[in-house]
Amino acid sequence: MKTAIYPGTFDPVTNGHLDVLERASKLFPKVIIAVSENSEKKTLFDLEERMFLIKKNVLKYNNVFIGSFKGLLVEYALEQNASVIIRGLRAVSDFEYEFQMAQMNRHLEEDLETLFLMPNEKYFFTSSTLVKQVMKYTDRPLQLIPSNVLEALKKKLHN
Ligand code: PNS
Repeated sequence: MKTAIYPGTFDPVTNGHLDVLERASKLFPKVIIAVSENSEKKTLFDLEERMFLIKKNVLKYNNVFIGSFKGLLVEYALEQNASVIIRGLRAVSDFEYEFQMAQMNRHLEEDLETLFLMPNEKYFFTSSTLVKQVMKYTDRPLQLIPSNVLEALKKKLHN
């Protein structure tokens, strides 16, 4: 039974992430969405908030689980008996970073494969960073994030 890990910062989760997750859930019997706790990036939402925002959107899958990790991704993947890392690939601009990360993870753990999945093209330019930037200045309902994330962003940025 192959387990796949879908890691990320998810600050916050977007419909693009959820689109990739759904594709992964159709390919693997078990998918762990793994929220990074690392402090390299300053996040708007803390770890618990990021996990909570994901939770409501994945309850419909019976093969998707939420986890969190600190430190190296490959070590968490081994702990969880995962053999595949899922990453979403959008525009060409993602490639360089993703390529380096996949090569480093392979260098650390040869047998752990990275599998890139493309979200629906309507999410090709969706990123958590841009969503946060736009939501700073508007209350408009963006079609790029789930409704609970929209509410959480409004609360966090406008209060
Ligand atoms: O959503 P992101 O920010 O692009 O996710 C990046 C993430 C968290 C998957 C990546 O930074 C990561 O795996 N960090 C853990 C540290 C690690 O294992 N680094 C080696 C891979 S280069």
